[in-house]
Amino acid sequence: MDSAEKSWEKLRTPHITHHQVPQLRSFAAHIKRPWISLLAVLILQYLYFGGYLIFPFVYKYAQDHDNHPNLHFTLPVDWLGAPNGLFIDANKIWHVYFEFESTAPDPEPCRNWGHAISTDLYDWKMQPIAIQCDEYESLSGSVVIDENNTSGFFPKQKDGVVAIYTQYHLTKKTKEQALAYSTDGGFSFTKYANNLPLATSMDTESMHDPKVIWHSKTQKWIMVIAKKVIVEIYTSSNLLDWTFASVYKNQNLVGSRNEFNGPNLVPIPRVETTGAKNWTNLPTIPGGEVLDFGDYILLVSSARGSPLNGGSITRYFPGKFNGTHFSPVDDRTDRFIDFGPDNHASQFFFGLADGAPVISLGWASNLQYAGSVRTGSREGWRGILTGPREGYLIHNPSPHGADESDLSYFGRPVGLEGLKDEVHANITVRQALDQSVAYTNSEAILIEAKYVMMPDNADPVEINLDLVFKSSSGEEQLLCSVIFGTWMADFVCDRSQASKNWTLSDPSMNQMMARQVPPLLPFHNPASRRWEFQAIMDRSILEVYLNGGVKAGTITMFPSTPLDIVHLRSKEIPGWANLTVTVQRLRARNNELLR
Ligand SMILES: *[C@@H]1O[C@H](CO)[C@@H](O)[C@H](O)[C@H]1NC(C)=O
Ligand SMILES: *[C@@H]1O[C@H](CO)[C@@H](O)[C@H](O)[C@H]1NC(C)=O
Ligand SMILES: *[C@@H]1O[C@H](CO)[C@@H](O)[C@H](O)[C@H]1NC(C)=O
Ligand SMILES: *[C@@H]1O[C@H](CO)[C@@H](O)[C@H](O)[C@H]1NC(C)=O
Ligand SMILES: *[C@@H]1O[C@H](CO)[C@@H](O)[C@H](O)[C@H]1NC(C)=O
Ligand SMILES: *[C@@H]1O[C@H](CO)[C@@H](O)[C@H](O)[C@H]1NC(C)=O
Ligand SMILES: *[C@@H]1O[C@H](CO)[C@@H](O)[C@H](O)[C@H]1NC(C)=O
Repeated sequence: MDSAEKSWEKLRTPHITHHQVPQLRSFAAHIKRPWISLLAVLILQYLYFGGYLIFPFVYKYAQDHDNHPNLHFTLPVDWLGAPNGLFIDANKIWHVYFEFESTAPDPEPCRNWGHAISTDLYDWKMQPIAIQCDEYESLSGSVVIDENNTSGFFPKQKDGVVAIYTQYHLTKKTKEQALAYSTDGGFSFTKYANNLPLATSMDTESMHDPKVIWHSKTQKWIMVIAKKVIVEIYTSSNLLDWTFASVYKNQNLVGSRNEFNGPNLVPIPRVETTGAKNWTNLPTIPGGEVLDFGDYILLVSSARGSPLNGGSITRYFPGKFNGTHFSPVDDRTDRFIDFGPDNHASQFFFGLADGAPVISLGWASNLQYAGSVRTGSREGWRGILTGPREGYLIHNPSPHGADESDLSYFGRPVGLEGLKDEVHANITVRQALDQSVAYTNSEAILIEAKYVMMPDNADPVEINLDLVFKSSSGEEQLLCSVIFGTWMADFVCDRSQASKNWTLSDPSMNQMMARQVPPLLPFHNPASRRWEFQAIMDRSILEVYLNGGVKAGTITMFPSTPLDIVHLRSKEIPGWANLTVTVQRLRARNNELLR
């Protein structure tokens, strides 16, 4: 068993106590007639252990939980694992599947594919389990729409859905790649030929997490799949028979013990900086032109070994793909989708138009502690997904002109405008800032800061903006600070005081840091030196975006009393600079997940 396997193995053990049962009993005790109580206990226990996903009482119970995010995807109870099989269908409905384990006491925990749908990527509606555990459990994988019936499963339809995933035999303890198909648009699946593994010459046992895309130029399906510290690429014309095409290795990672998981290869558009050509343009993205240069990015996650903090990390490699081979622009290993500790196994949606920005969701957790965060024993759930992000490639701004190794991923939140609600504070900082803003923790908030400067000379300057999230009823706090410099910005966040009873053995995991973040384009125009900062705070998850999305960071925290105040602080702002800060409610989602 490899090391990543071991940590999964640990997660597979029941990690959520059955403390819900007494609570359900006490609920029933409030009902006067004893036989009704008894019946209620029986029904509630059955529903809880058998099919709580359709039952409202458990949602109500879960809703009181302090750490449950309001805006981000979570489950009311149980274990939410990595997102899988993300796709958008022809009716513009987003589908997310996720590794899901019931906490039923027996038999062995067994991972299913849970399923939820949304029209806006924020309001999710839970669906019945899509792929059920039988003697096999269904691990990570992906979903495609087989519009041309290449598989032969869909004689009369254009919207046939195929899931390709790794399956694990619970008693034989073997692993292989499997397929299930859905004729009802992805709601219910039939496992192909009794869990028959896919036909290839590949050593399927050591591989996992197949991600499939359609490559229209060659009219072939393409699968990328992780195998220790390499990614193998296969092609197929029918989704069933797969031919080995090539292998992607990064010379600087092949010696690593930190195995890959969740590979994703997707085409991605580039934003060219019209702003750099015309300096009077404001550097908004996508104010630049969105162009298709035939770029791809390959993502891979590792359970540990992050150069940032030692934990889980998701890297990306920009490059080209010709139908069989992925050619990265270089061998760099320091490009990360997120600089925080809590964004593992990001996945991209299938079904978006060619040339459109990619859209992703990640698992806002870290395999070094995902199975032991305190919400499990306290509130009966574990696991959050990141907010949806749309991504492009950009050239890092460089006064010397751009070359391909400057390419980097730009990821920003999707559709925030539509969520903006009541404004708690709108501050134009005249001198120094020192102000507390209260909010209720039954909502998510958005903090936006803009800093514009025109210094008299070229001397470097630094202006800090501190954000201290505090609790009106407790001591815990989350300390964050963004430092706007002349040419680069820094960001740091420390959660060691926001999770008092949740002590990490590795203190470096409590830090989230991004240094030397380049500005939003254009860089070399002194007339528009400006910095942008956004933070989305949602009870136990904070996502920050620096300079529109040049860098994104995700950190979770599990305070024992709700964080409901943000204290904003800066030192004196020079006369040649302007700082504005807004704090605003984000519309709490109106979904069924937590009801
Ligand atoms: C779909 O494929 C199956 C199996 O190859 C075939 O029998 C059927 O005619 C096909 N339907 C269409 C519309 O192509
Ligand atoms: C379906 O067929 C059309 C027409 O041949 C082709 O352009 C398209 O790429 C195919 N798509 C898939 C997913 O098979
Ligand atoms: C630069 O952009 C501004 C604002 O969009 C526009 O008015 C101006 O004509 C542009 N200049 C050139 C040289 O393209
Ligand atoms: C794709 O790239 C590989 C490696 O560069 C090359 O060997 C192969 O011939 C290319 N295939 C096509 C169709 O261009
Ligand atoms: C904050 O105030 C400025 C100036 O009055 C206004 O333009 C801006 O729209 C306000 N922002 C929000 C979020 O209300
Ligand atoms: C700051 O705001 C003032 C008043 O709106 C404006 O005159 C000035 O140009 C701004 N400074 C910068 C650097 O944008
Ligand atoms: C930490 O845990 C102890 C023992 O479980 C409990 O008494 C204490 O109140 C907790 N403190 C906080 C801040 O949650």
